[in-house]
This record gives sequence, structure tokens and C-alpha cells, in this order.
Amino acid sequence: MHDDHWSSLQTHWDRLKPAHLRDLFKDEGRFGHFSRQLDDLTIDFSKERIDAGAFEALLGLAKAAGVEARRDAMFAGERINSTEDREVLHVALRAERSDGFMVDGAPTAELVEPVLDAFLAFADQVRSGDIAAKAGRFTDVINIGIGGSDLGPVMVARALSPYRGQGPNVHFVSNVDGAHLSDVTAGLDPATTLVLVASKTFTTQETMTNAAAAKAWLGAAAAQNMAALSTNLEATEAFGIPQVRVFGFWDWVGGRYSVWSAIGLSVALSVGSDHFRAFLSGARSMDQHFKTAPLADNLPVLLALIGIWRRNMMGCATVAMMPYDQRLERLPAYVQQLDMESNGKRVALDGSALERSSGPVIWGEPGTNAQHSFFQLIHQGTDIIPVDFIVSATSGSDYVDQHELLLANCLAQSEALAFGKTADEVRAEGVTEALVPHKVFPGNRPSTTIVQRRLDPFALGRLIALYEHKVFVQGTIWGVNSYDQWGVELGKALAQALVPIVRGQTSPDGKDASTQGLLGRIAELNGS
Ligand code: F6P
Repeated sequence: MHDDHWSSLQTHWDRLKPAHLRDLFKDEGRFGHFSRQLDDLTIDFSKERIDAGAFEALLGLAKAAGVEARRDAMFAGERINSTEDREVLHVALRAERSDGFMVDGAPTAELVEPVLDAFLAFADQVRSGDIAAKAGRFTDVINIGIGGSDLGPVMVARALSPYRGQGPNVHFVSNVDGAHLSDVTAGLDPATTLVLVASKTFTTQETMTNAAAAKAWLGAAAAQNMAALSTNLEATEAFGIPQVRVFGFWDWVGGRYSVWSAIGLSVALSVGSDHFRAFLSGARSMDQHFKTAPLADNLPVLLALIGIWRRNMMGCATVAMMPYDQRLERLPAYVQQLDMESNGKRVALDGSALERSSGPVIWGEPGTNAQHSFFQLIHQGTDIIPVDFIVSATSGSDYVDQHELLLANCLAQSEALAFGKTADEVRAEGVTEALVPHKVFPGNRPSTTIVQRRLDPFALGRLIALYEHKVFVQGTIWGVNSYDQWGVELGKALAQALVPIVRGQTSPDGKDASTQGLLGRIAELNGS
């Protein structure tokens, strides 16, 4: 597919491969050529190993791959999630009525607005104490969910913690490991704790197991102290959650794209409806930009193309995400699901095997902590690990001076990665010859830096939408369906089948030797 464009890219990479960023930066206008802005948000990709020719070729690939047409199809509510025959309309969750999103011939606003109003009103009433437990005001909220029903809410609630005001403490339980629920509930009072069961399907083993355990923990308070966020209204009813405490959404919202829906209730409880609406507006501003900006200035498209260059030309198998922001500590985990569950695919839309590598491994930790753990490998290891740096210009804490240190560290890392330190520079410092190779930094290691004014609800919504659309563009170029996740199913089915074997209720006969061996050891260790 688009072979001419791929081979043109390859020609550019063959040409650029020997070039060092030190040479590319001889062009003093490089920052201007390879950075773009949307309001206060800047993306600087000048420290990537591209030049004007490569950039043009990347844009040509995006055009040829039909990024604009598929984007328009998504916004028009076409069923671009073809393997599940579904629309992909999470953008409609943060839209204004005038944006005109439609599903099944009706405006999405008719579905979205009443639910949004209802769950935000619920959140504000819980915050004000107008909705309370029998025992009094809700002091704590536990969101029980996993994957997209956990990672978005937990990441956003943590990022926006300064906006909490008088809101309840919000906790998250995801793992089927009972230690998670038991550690979170320790010290909480069931009488004043609100439990949210967040599950698109309301069938996920981990969530339903934890939900049942939490219901038992709530005891007599369960009737009053539970709410559900789901598309499966029959199952929420069967579980016993009163209809007024159920906030729905729709199958055209993918789990990893659902933080904008009722799945975001824990966030709204934490920060209140005004901040939640600002979060939605931020995402909408990126949607509008993505929809209208020319490819060469379109931030999600540019981020995606840089990723294609790194993955398919440079052969980089992983990307490190480094928020220089402690409150974004869960962003790498969130983007991990967003990116890897969406583009971790091996076949194209038509089922044929992909000819090129698709989604990379995403991983990361906040800076500056990461500098003192794995940055050694990024600077001097044998593999090239591209880095996304994310930082706000202004401090999110009262320790404003410390923010200057944070900024300096963030900029220093990308500078060191790009330009390194040569053997001559090391020698000039008087280093003994034997140590010179150890102290050389090869540099020429790519990074992109994203800078915004501050981490507030609007900026966070915009940032997440930026990554969502980046994933979309890359999925389009690789030709995969970014909206299914069949790869998680086999493990789920096997786990279900293993439960009675682990419990000793059925025999392990027929299982492979390793599984049988391990089951035997576990049984021995359990003393059975
Ligand atoms: O197993 C993967 C997955 O389906 C994710 O896509 C989803 O976010 C998560 O499980 C949780 O699903 P649910 O919200 O239906 O419980």
C-alpha cells in the first residue's frame, strides 16, 4: 500500500541516517521549521532526525493513506470500526450541539446531553452534600473498573487534584488481586463511601468480582451507596443498582476512549462539573483543530508522522513518554492502553498480514525521577529510544522555584539526547583516555517536546485528544482497525476455563505440561 510513498520515505532515511542532529541544527531556522502551535500548546519536533525533504515525504504518505478522508468519515459517524460494525464517536461526547454529530440518523446530542447533565448534577450534589449516604455526607468514592474504565479516570483525577476543592477523596480499584480492594477499603467507612462500578460491558471478570466484594463490604449501605456507569443497562439492573444511579453510554464509545462519558463520573465527583466541562472543551478544541488544520500544521498528524518515522524508518520498537509533571504520573500508563490496544495489530482492515511494523511499545515515568533510573540506557544504551517530553511552562504548586529546576531538567535531557558529548569534548575536560569511551554521549537521539502553559482541565483534555487523534492517524497509515481489541480475548477465555482447575474442582488433564507443572507446584505450595 502506498509503496511509492514508503519508498520515497526510505530514500530520505537512507540519506539522513548518517547525518547528526548537530549538523541538522546548523540551520538556525530549524525550530521555526519543525515546531507548531495551537494556542498555548507547542510541539517541537526539531530534535527529530528529519529535514524538509523527509517532512514533505511524510505529509505525502499521510495524504496518500487517506488520513483526511478517514478522519472525515469518523466525524461523520461512519462505521469505521468495521470489525465490530460500530461508529467511532467519542468526539461526540465533548461536542457542542452545533457540531452536528449524528448516529443512526439522530443527533448524538439528544443522547449525550441528558446523560452528561445527569451525571454532572449527581456529582455536584454529592459534592455539596445534597445527595448523601444515610450516615451523612459521602467522604470517599471508590471507582471499580479496569482498562479504559480505570486508566482514564485515575490519570485525570490525579492530574487535576488541585481542582478538588471540597470534593470527596476518590480511590480506584482495578486489579482482581483482592489486595487492591482490601488495601483501598482499609481505613474507609462503608457507611460514607460511594462505590461506582465502571464497566462498559458490565461483564468484565475483574470488575464484577470486585463489585460483588465491594457490595458485601458496604453491607446495609449498598442500596444507597452504589452507582453504575455502563452501556449494559440490563446487567446493572440485575446487579441491583437502582436506575437513577445508572449513567449510561453507547457502544460507539470505545473503552479506552470513554473518560469523556459517564465513565468520567469519578473525575466529576473529584473536581466538580465546571472543571469537567472545561476538560471536555479542551478536547473539543483539539477535535476542531484536527478536523480543520492543514496536514502540515495539524498537531495530531505531525505527532503521528514523527511516530511513523521513528517506527518504520528508524526501526525504533519503543517510545518513552516522559511527563515532567508529577501529577501526570499515570499518563504513560493511560497512553499505553490508548496506543497499544489500538494499534497493537498484525493484520490490516482487510485481514491481510501487515507488511510493516505497527504500534510500538509505549512506556515511561515522570521526570525527573526517570533520569535517575533508566535514562542511562536512553543516553548510552545500544538501542535508540525516542522520547516524548511533556511539560508545562508554569508551576502547578506553591514551590515555584522548583518548577524552574523541573523545566531546566526537561530541556537538558532533550539537549543531551540530541547533541551528546564527543570524545574530544570529553578529553578537553581532562578525562583519562581509558575513561573517554565511557563518558562519550553519542547524541543524535530523537525527542519531541510538548509545552503548554499549565496543566489545567482544558489543557489536559486537549492533550489527551491530541494523543487519541495521533493514534487514529497512525492506525490509518498502518491500515489497521484501531478500535477493536480481539487480542485480549484468548487470555480471558483461558482464565475462565482455568478457574475451576485452580480451585481443584476439575482436573488439569489435557493442559500443556508447563501449565500442569505450575498448577502442581501451586497446589503443593498451598498445602493441598
Ligand atoms: O480487556 C480489554 C478491555 O475490553 C478494554 O478494552 C476495556 O477498556 C476493559 O477491558 C474494560 O472493559 P469494561 O469497561 O467493559 O469492563
